[in-house]
Amino acid sequence: MNSVSNLPSRTEALNTLREIGCSESVINHSLLVTKIAMEIASSISRRRSVNLHLVEIGGLLHDIGRSTTHGVRHGLVGSEILEKLDYPHTLVQLVRNHVGAGIPHEEAKALGLRPTDYLPTTVEEKVVCYADKLVSGSNGVTFEEALKSFENLGPRHPAIARFRALHQELVELTGGTINGTGTRRENPSGKRRQVPD
Ligand SMILES: [Fe+2]
Repeated sequence: MNSVSNLPSRTEALNTLREIGCSESVINHSLLVTKIAMEIASSISRRRSVNLHLVEIGGLLHDIGRSTTHGVRHGLVGSEILEKLDYPHTLVQLVRNHVGAGIPHEEAKALGLRPTDYLPTTVEEKVVCYADKLVSGSNGVTFEEALKSFENLGPRHPAIARFRALHQELVELTGGTINGTGTRRENPSGKRRQVPD
């Protein structure tokens, strides 16, 4: 598969997650990320072109690497899984670049990743990356709550500014329809994570 038109269907993506060994908690997380990402992408689509199917399948598969590791490498590992499955490059890149608010090559090197940029660049990559930060475990969180998770990395960590910039860009792309509180959702059975991922 080499083009966006060869993206898997929603059912195929969910089957892939299960076949590869993702836990139900990862799948539930991914379903909520997908819901939020699609809301944001639908809003953006009223103003500019956005591939809604890529956002949907990217939301579902963004954490497929968690079948192998829950560490910072899970984005890269996930992209390698999807490459082996011959999924389109656009989807592979989306999964690879979703961790944190993206990781520039200097930070990637310090984290033990191959020193290259892992930054979301397309609108679809940005939407899924951002929506992922608005879900902690299986709970929806506000932008402000997600920002606090980044601040846990240290008060001057560059990821804080990156996440703020990502938020601002998506607020502008949606015409202000995301405001940090409109996407809040609760799931009392879900657990909160301490590190943005
Ligand atoms: Fe992730």
